[in-house]
Amino acid sequence: MNTQTPIGPFIRPAIPDDAEGIARVHVRSWQEAYVGLLPQPVLDRQSVPARLRWWSGVLQQVRDDRWTFVAIDPAAGIVGFAGGDRARRRMFGPGYSVPVLYVLQSHVRRGLGRKLMHALGQAMARDGSGEVEVWSLASNAPARAFYAGIGGKLAAASTDRDHNRVPLAGYRWRNAAELAEKSAGRT
Ligand SMILES: CC(C)(COP(=O)(O)OP(=O)(O)OC[C@H]1O[C@@H](n2cnc3c(N)ncnc32)[C@H](O)[C@@H]1OP(=O)(O)O)[C@@H](O)C(=O)NCCC(=O)NCCS
Repeated sequence: MNTQTPIGPFIRPAIPDDAEGIARVHVRSWQEAYVGLLPQPVLDRQSVPARLRWWSGVLQQVRDDRWTFVAIDPAAGIVGFAGGDRARRRMFGPGYSVPVLYVLQSHVRRGLGRKLMHALGQAMARDGSGEVEVWSLASNAPARAFYAGIGGKLAAASTDRDHNRVPLAGYRWRNAAELAEKSAGRT
């Protein structure tokens, strides 16, 4: 008799072998989620080999100031990921930032974004107590609802330097422990 319970999607720290899966989700997420929000040629230029080179480099470096987590669906492989770091790309001062968070459209609204942010919040809280910031395209309504839903406070507006200065919205949490707490599941 098979007594194994089917396993649902779960979160774990990324390992170097995840680079290709992350690169694929990265490109697919941009091309799914940013249609109409970023210029189409920018989306068409997204390249798995280029993202793979980037992610291979990131995941092969052992660093104590950067964290990457993946969401895995046992039936589909990597379906989401999030990356955070200490004091990099900060606009508000010392602390933590979350430059990347992506869940495939096939897997949104199942709690994976929340779990990825919770994992990052916990890792950052073990490291220190600085504020956490995240930037979203101002036109990205689902992401903004998500960040507000897990306790992020709308804190600033800016423009993106890479893509025709599109407007951005900045959210922040007072510290990583607050992010971990507010993104914890309700059960
Ligand atoms: C933003 C994103 C990461 C959210 O991930 P997710 O797994 O769908 O989010 P969760 O299921 O954990 O949602 C947690 C809560 O956030 C809020 N939320 C999430 N998506 C929302 C939406 N589209 N509209 C309104 N509220 C939303 C809800 O309160 C939700 O709780 P509920 O489902 O119990 O109501 C995901 O939509 C995504 O990857 N989008 C495309 C890429 C992107 O925009 N990334 C962010 C870059 S800044």
